[in-house]
Amino acid sequence: MSEQAKPKRVLTGYRPTGKLHLGHWFGNLMSMLEFQHEDYEPFFFVADWHALTSNWQNTQNIPQFTEDMVMDWLAAGLDPKKTVIYRQSDIPEVAELSLYMSMVTPMSWLERVPTYKEQKQNITDKDLSNVGFFLYPNLMSADIAIMRADAIPVGKDQEAHLEINREIVRRFNGTYGEGILVEPHEVYAKDGQKVPGIDGRKMSKSYGNSIYLSDTIEDMKKKAMQFMTDPARKLKTDPGEPNICPLHQVHKLVAQSPEDIAKWEECCRAGSCGCVAHKKAFAEDIAAYFEPFHERRQEIEKDSDYVRDVLIDGAKRAKPIAEKVISDCREAMHLNYTGK
Ligand code: TRP
Repeated sequence: MSEQAKPKRVLTGYRPTGKLHLGHWFGNLMSMLEFQHEDYEPFFFVADWHALTSNWQNTQNIPQFTEDMVMDWLAAGLDPKKTVIYRQSDIPEVAELSLYMSMVTPMSWLERVPTYKEQKQNITDKDLSNVGFFLYPNLMSADIAIMRADAIPVGKDQEAHLEINREIVRRFNGTYGEGILVEPHEVYAKDGQKVPGIDGRKMSKSYGNSIYLSDTIEDMKKKAMQFMTDPARKLKTDPGEPNICPLHQVHKLVAQSPEDIAKWEECCRAGSCGCVAHKKAFAEDIAAYFEPFHERRQEIEKDSDYVRDVLIDGAKRAKPIAEKVISDCREAMHLNYTGK
């Protein structure tokens, strides 16, 4: 008989750089929940050191963003009994491993990472000429290797990071001994959904077009009424195209039923219902969809120690794994001199 497969340790981190919006909810959070399943051992962490790499001049909001993000995770359904939820900076072994990994990493590998080149060119309101930002891939490699994680859910933009991460692990193991660090692989959760913002562009904090999870139900409804629709549709009787209507793309995600959505598609194409009516229906549906989330979040907010306790417990569970990896590395690198 076949042995029961070992659960895969799946790990991912998020930088605490702002409030979570619908783009995070449908793009990441819903897939994170999928891993709370017996085939996986999920580790999700607040990447507060990664937030420093680009925001080192502006760190005062990190505690608030950390708390908000973990509250959103918990209210969305992440269960701290099934998922190890922790904060990167509570595991200093990550920094030690990042240092060791930097020894085997040629500078040219880091210079080649596409996101590094892109962000250095495109982001002009922050000073990214610091070594910390340059070492981003090393720190990320350490996050993964320190927990011996083998499955990393990646978005397209993170693939290059994971690749360099594997190269670093291979070079480390090639130098100091096979099997010391685990080579991670990507795992695909249910496809994340692309979410347009109120103005039809990708939903993003920097565009000011977002519906935030922490918005009140009233604010969600107000924003729903401002959503852009098919721009070619001037009059109610003009036939519209739901596939290019930003409102419709988001409505699909929160609608009560597929039949309901089919009904709106039909009358839009026929020019027999107007965009204002559609917006009203969308506003009602988004309110109903997020009602349970809001209730849970309010419960969590009442207990002022809850988030802190979850993070303390997560760190307690993560720490022994990190300590073992560091002790293996020290031994393999001959840093274990204890006298004669
Ligand atoms: N790079 C990720 C981001 O941009 C955050 C991150 C840090 C991460 N360490 C990680 C993701 C380890 C997966 C695994 O949001």
